[in-house]
Amino acid sequence: MENEKRVAAHSACDRVADGTVIGLGTGSTVRFFLEKLAERISEEELEVIGVPTSQGSETMAAELGIPLTDLSEHPVLDLDIDGADEISPQLDLIKGGGGALLREKIVADASLEVVIIADGSKTVDLLGEFPLPVEVLPFGIERTRSELENLGCPATVRERDGTTYLTDNGNNIIDCAFGRIEDPRGLEARLLGIPGVLECGLFVGMADVAIVADGEEVRVLEV
Ligand code: A5P
Repeated sequence: MENEKRVAAHSACDRVADGTVIGLGTGSTVRFFLEKLAERISEEELEVIGVPTSQGSETMAAELGIPLTDLSEHPVLDLDIDGADEISPQLDLIKGGGGALLREKIVADASLEVVIIADGSKTVDLLGEFPLPVEVLPFGIERTRSELENLGCPATVRERDGTTYLTDNGNNIIDCAFGRIEDPRGLEARLLGIPGVLECGLFVGMADVAIVADGEEVRVLEV
């Protein structure tokens, strides 16, 4: 699986043109992309500038020497490269397994083209088996969790190392195990209608391309 992540990430990196302002996603697949991008910057003198979607990606990109900017300086990005936890046939996504969904969604929305990189295990017929991450304000979290359960899912406050998980934004994540999500757009609207919910990991109609590797074989899925 690690090799497939690398294959997908390298294939996406081949698409990066000189002069690109690029969204840098988050996760283990994106880490392979960042390494390859840094290699191209140093070997080909590729000129790109990146907007990271998490503190983790920011730190790694900076260490690799990838020039960085932010959305205030570059409100429109040419390209966003990010991973996903599930990819539907329509290229709707579940994201946020790594907790970066809010910034990832802002950056994806700011990008002219969104390219998802993944190993083959991420493609599904129907979204929902992967528990949907929802970023919530810590204030009133138990009430928010109960409102989420009223939508028909077991909802669990994410923990890490025995304590409540904190996002880069100082918020919490509630993982919602819907099992099957038949209407991602409708569910997204209902989730965002709950006070205290800041964003959810459903990315509906945002991805333009998914580059998926099965072994050494690369599938390029488009909508
Ligand atoms: C980060 O919050 C997520 O949206 C990741 O993009 C997603 O979890 C994919 O991560 P991996 O590439 O590690 O599978």
